[in-house]
Amino acid sequence: MTPVGRFELNWPGDALFGAGRVDGLGTLLAGRGQTRALIVTDPGLREAGVLARVEAALQAGGVAFDSYDQVSPNPTTANVRATREIWETGGFDALIALGGGSSIDTAKGAMAEILTGKEAIACFGQNVDRSDRPLPPFYAIPTTSGTGSESSLGAVLKSPERKFVIRGALLQPRTVIMDPELTLSLPPGMTAATGFDAFCHAIGAYTNTSINPVADELALAAIRLALEHLPVAVDHGDDLEARSGLMQASYLGGVCIGQKGVDGIHGLCTPVESLIPAVHGQVLGTLLPYVLRYNFETQAKRYAEISKRLGLDGNPVEAIFDAATGLAALTGCPARLGDYGITQGDIPRLTEMALLSQATQRNGREMPAENITKLYETMI
Ligand SMILES: [Fe+2]
Repeated sequence: MTPVGRFELNWPGDALFGAGRVDGLGTLLAGRGQTRALIVTDPGLREAGVLARVEAALQAGGVAFDSYDQVSPNPTTANVRATREIWETGGFDALIALGGGSSIDTAKGAMAEILTGKEAIACFGQNVDRSDRPLPPFYAIPTTSGTGSESSLGAVLKSPERKFVIRGALLQPRTVIMDPELTLSLPPGMTAATGFDAFCHAIGAYTNTSINPVADELALAAIRLALEHLPVAVDHGDDLEARSGLMQASYLGGVCIGQKGVDGIHGLCTPVESLIPAVHGQVLGTLLPYVLRYNFETQAKRYAEISKRLGLDGNPVEAIFDAATGLAALTGCPARLGDYGITQGDIPRLTEMALLSQATQRNGREMPAENITKLYETMI
């Protein structure tokens, strides 16, 4: 059945993919007339020498630079403010986010502040899609494969009080440089957790209630890439082909969530992460089997389609379930939320937060409060 409805397509900007691609960064910027770049990154990438490689690439193109390298693993409004302040005083003409989702999200937060003149948290619940101010050329160079932040419209930030999401077409990096060499040294645990995130973006986008046939095809491609390459990348981190496939899965997953959003797997995950410090990909892994079973009651056909399109063997509903839970297992996630320290007493708050999430509201099967509560109860 062809779904009816309305959709819009916000095609992302330039994407340059390939091993060694990052070394051409300076030439690229210089060719665009950009002369002074601000790099946003984290201390780990400075230590690992990745920042030095990017700096050398800029130097080779005659592009001057400065860097802010204090991004936290869960990027904060303080990270955003610091980036924006350096940007405003440094005379820069290009903003480069180098890192995983946290560096890219910090740069997106800074973009939101630069373009709106407001603090990032004031952009929560708004769509940052227009501005009278000049748009800084915004580059993303991902060093992990999974969050999709390099190609999505949103960013997850943390104020002293809570985690919040900002969104908008103007926050999307306009140029993404994907160099799989930068991910070769990611340890297996992080590879699994971030790669599984990409898979969840794609399966969530494919099965939720938003309509977008183009994003559906990209989601299928991302699911296929994640299924094929994630297990290899976890076992053989230096396999450039697997790293390449995973990087593409992450990018395509990010494009999909920009067009369609995600589903209840993410919708129920964010509240848990607000209560306890946990690895995003692992919490997703814990939740996924429960949410899939819940969704199968009314949406089994949609999931079966994935198996059929991907040529998975066996009963199509069980085949995608097995494939998905197989990937989840790679993250080493606990089987239950209780293992993270979540208790029965947390459920009313979790339910309340989950109900507010667009991801929950778009889930393939409706998620009223009583069903969310029941789901959390079975997961404990
Ligand atoms: Fe995610």
